[in-house]
Amino acid sequence: MLKRILLDTDPGIDDSLAILLALASHEISLEGISVVHGNCSAAQGTVNALSVLELAGASHIPVYKGCDLPLVQPSLLAPETHGDTGLGYAKLPAPLSPPKVQKGSDFLIEQLMSAPGEFTLVCIGPLTNVALAIRQEPRIVEAVREVFIMGGAIRHEGNTTPLAEFNTFVDPHAAHIVYHSGMPITLTPLDVTYDCVLLKEDVERLLKIDSPITTFIADATRFYMEFHDEYQSIEGCVINDPLTMALTFAPDLCSYQEVYVDVDLSGGVSMGNTFADFYRMTKKPANMKVALSVKARDFIELFLQRMEKLARESNVLSSPQGT
Ligand code: RIB
Ligand code: CA
Repeated sequence: MLKRILLDTDPGIDDSLAILLALASHEISLEGISVVHGNCSAAQGTVNALSVLELAGASHIPVYKGCDLPLVQPSLLAPETHGDTGLGYAKLPAPLSPPKVQKGSDFLIEQLMSAPGEFTLVCIGPLTNVALAIRQEPRIVEAVREVFIMGGAIRHEGNTTPLAEFNTFVDPHAAHIVYHSGMPITLTPLDVTYDCVLLKEDVERLLKIDSPITTFIADATRFYMEFHDEYQSIEGCVINDPLTMALTFAPDLCSYQEVYVDVDLSGGVSMGNTFADFYRMTKKPANMKVALSVKARDFIELFLQRMEKLARESNVLSSPQGT
């Protein structure tokens, strides 16, 4: 059954790969993108989303700019990780189509309330837009079919502080609202994404296809790999967001546990830390399904095959014969 997806994102290098994976996957109908601050500003992320969609011939998909700032915390962007433009070394033409006028959180509310039970919400940035949408229209909690969130670090160390993952650290108050909303959440934390490392040889395989798409992936991930090497001594780059997108149609890539998860708002060294009550000490019911192990190379292979397919199809469509 085709999954109708609404994507909330801070594109961002791995966000862009998640967008391309959605476009390459016949199981998915990507029906709109709301952009949030995070890897780069919401304004820059909106331009990036439009440009990546046009790169893949998908400019029919609407893009909506969302929140520029976290709910309470000061702004925190990630130029050291994603570059000043948010797309690393990649250079894309300025988008021809403009974003929609409606605000991101209003777009999410309108879509979810227009078709209860129909939409899958995929959240791969800080959760500011989604938290605002819940506060504006609490009924979206029942209307959404399912929610996939990239965020958190359960047993794994943080990637932004020693205890916190970027999306939850940037807006922990928004994460707290969403995690306790009652939405049917599947969480993809660093515990599984840090096993999913795209290697230089994986990118070299993609470059065997001469395409603007493979060139984009190579230029964007080259910056991302330099960051992972310099800051975390990782050879390659962790592609968090594409794994989250893949789980919407290939859930068997991971194993899961239903568990109560909370977000630390105490404001100290553990601000934004996400922790799971595996031994049910709080007596609180599970509020989400957490991915705790992953068939990492099976996922990378799926991602590479879908990128190869997208690049080949894009070449055919852009050739003079279009055949
Ligand atoms: O911690 C990784 C997450 O933060 C990813 O979604 C990445 O794009 C950034 O948003
Ligand atoms: Ca992201």
